[in-house]
Amino acid sequence: MAGEQPGPGRERQAKIYRDGVFGRRPRVPTDFAGLEAAARRKASVRGWAYVAGGAGEGATMRANRAAFERWAIVPRVLRDVSRRDLSAELFGRRIPAPVLLAPVGAAELLHPEADRAIAGAAADLGLPYIFSSQACFSMEECAAVMGEAPRWFQLYWSRDEGVVDSFLSRAKAAGCEAIVVTLDTTMLGWRPQDLNLGSLPFSRGEGIAQYLTDPRFRELVRERLAAGIGGATPGGRPTFAAVKTLLTMTRKFPGSFAANLRSPEPRAAVETFLETYSRPSLTWEDIATLRDRTDLPVLLKGVLHPDDARRAADMGLDGLVVSNHGGRQVDGAIASLDALPAVAAAVGDRMTVLLDSGVRTGADVLKAVALGADAVLIGRPHAYGLALAGREGARDAVANIVAEFDLTLGLSGLTSIAEATPEILVN
Ligand SMILES: Cc1cc2nc3c(=O)[nH]c(=O)nc-3n(C[C@H](O)[C@H](O)[C@H](O)COP(=O)(O)O)c2cc1C
Repeated sequence: MAGEQPGPGRERQAKIYRDGVFGRRPRVPTDFAGLEAAARRKASVRGWAYVAGGAGEGATMRANRAAFERWAIVPRVLRDVSRRDLSAELFGRRIPAPVLLAPVGAAELLHPEADRAIAGAAADLGLPYIFSSQACFSMEECAAVMGEAPRWFQLYWSRDEGVVDSFLSRAKAAGCEAIVVTLDTTMLGWRPQDLNLGSLPFSRGEGIAQYLTDPRFRELVRERLAAGIGGATPGGRPTFAAVKTLLTMTRKFPGSFAANLRSPEPRAAVETFLETYSRPSLTWEDIATLRDRTDLPVLLKGVLHPDDARRAADMGLDGLVVSNHGGRQVDGAIASLDALPAVAAAVGDRMTVLLDSGVRTGADVLKAVALGADAVLIGRPHAYGLALAGREGARDAVANIVAEFDLTLGLSGLTSIAEATPEILVN
């Protein structure tokens, strides 16, 4: 038909069915339940606990899914949907779909290429990847595999203001186009899956690459060592696990392994990280300083109350990520989708509003956009794809969601995200 465009949904379907004729099945299952089950089989016990786990009894994770399931799309028929435009514009940059890859720390628990593979996957899709403060490869290393593709930086506010400034300027130099300040993790939530294994990646030197490559952080470590703080070998008989951890930390530290083994710095770096990486005393006054510290757009991640949203808009900040951190922080928290309509109404068109937590399918993307999100962040699905097949796996997991979003949009009688308004939903 003249002017018809298959779009990413039909293209992806066609490729998968064509491969099927030759007996090839998709490496990354196309449904979330299958993806999750396959990733679980592949992951280590510790890796699975960290990535799939949540806070407390998991009530927030369940609430996230229940909120999506409560809303139903009411499709309309007989409206030429042969051409669909999925694209969205965020801070002047047009992206092919209203989807970003959420920051995930310590991804090396799932795959050795970790963030570098996720960055490559995002670049393959032309969708932004938000580099995590807790990445396993530095933002510079990740940027290096992305070409001109969009990338943002997620900041955990260190107790050391010098580290904050250093991260902000490195992010700008690495081509990041926005700063996302995560506010819901000034302390780690109560995470029984990790606690029951006694497993915190960072205490083994996993997920602290941004710090180990940071000049100000390294200086801080040396200052502390000079002052006699940190770097001491824990007392008692060394256990096999302790020696293994020590070797891992030493290997991760920049420089030669032999020199690192003799140096107190790797251990001191981990201790320094654990004592400084976030600040429970953070307030709006700190956030206000950001305007003078970066010229990049600033978004706050973890906002769920409309009053907080309004305050952020009044301060002239640029965006919000309505998020409960995938249910990893406060057990029994409001589902982020349930929080979205009031937050979006509170800021109107003064801010860009993004949403994450529980987005698993293309239909979820449509529901979030209809309820006021300009775009969504995908979290665990890309991490599970990474676990299965590195860069290609992360790419396919997100491509599947985008493909389904395209088909769902069209099959609902819509041809662009602007047409996705609350009227297309009932609950
Ligand atoms: C393994 C893992 C690590 C995460 N690390 C970070 C992080 O370093 N910084 C951050 O702001 N959010 C982090 N998050 C939260 C995600 O950015 C996102 O908010 C969440 O995964 C969305 O929920 P979903 O996984 O249900 O899609 C992490 C999430 C997971 C699953």
